[in-house]
Amino acid sequence: MSKSCSVLIDNEPYHFDVDGDFFWGEQYLLFNEASSPISKMKWKDKGFGIIQAFTDSEFRNLKNSITQNIIKALKVHVSDFDAHNFSLDKYHDVVTTNALHNKVIDITRNLENSDFDFDIETLVQRFSEVLGFQFTSYIEELEKTHIQIRISRPNSLDINPPHRDSYLSYYQNIINIWIPIHGCNSLSSLPVLPGSHLIPENEILRTESKGAKINGNTYYVPCILKTKEGNMHLIRPNPKEGEALVFTPYLIHGSAVNKNSDMTRVSLELRFPRLHD
Ligand SMILES: [Fe+2]
Repeated sequence: MSKSCSVLIDNEPYHFDVDGDFFWGEQYLLFNEASSPISKMKWKDKGFGIIQAFTDSEFRNLKNSITQNIIKALKVHVSDFDAHNFSLDKYHDVVTTNALHNKVIDITRNLENSDFDFDIETLVQRFSEVLGFQFTSYIEELEKTHIQIRISRPNSLDINPPHRDSYLSYYQNIINIWIPIHGCNSLSSLPVLPGSHLIPENEILRTESKGAKINGNTYYVPCILKTKEGNMHLIRPNPKEGEALVFTPYLIHGSAVNKNSDMTRVSLELRFPRLHD
């Protein structure tokens, strides 16, 4: 059944149609502070924080490696693609149809450590030190590492719905890391619902996993339509270049509409499981 999802992002209203079957959950809180990797952070009740993650040269290397991955995906699907003159800000000039965009992101949302000319293990160690727990980049249930490049064209519905990653079993014991790469600003950065990891299931109206469709695309994550309080008021923490937005997978986030009129947004998503002692 089609429903309109209405959210406020930094006090501005957005609406988009979602196809799916929606239900209220059980009276149960999924988030467990005692075992959460954010339990040592002073922002643990907000559910997210901003961390300095890269030096300037590390950031340049990472951005370059991401650009190379996008070029590789474009080469697969664009026959006369001019890789030499490509930069991330030209993405939406090259990718002008939803069909082509969907083919590109089919590749770029399913990458592994080995696809990057960047030392992911250094990052694992850095985040382990900051959060005070040991992490790994290997996700056991998926039997691989998993890195996603997110690409959102200007004024598009290249978004996933508001959701919690933790509804997927392999993302329950992880820390989410969202890294701005290009075109991330107050009009495009990832929105979050502060404190929403503390909302019990009976106060959340959502679909099942793989149960929501936006603009013809089915998403793995369930769509959260609203909470007991009504429509959600999300904010964009908007980390700067070199910083990372770190959050618990129980935090509601998503619907990252890109309101820039002529700039593609590119971001990187990492998920590091916590190693238990
Ligand atoms: Fe997510």
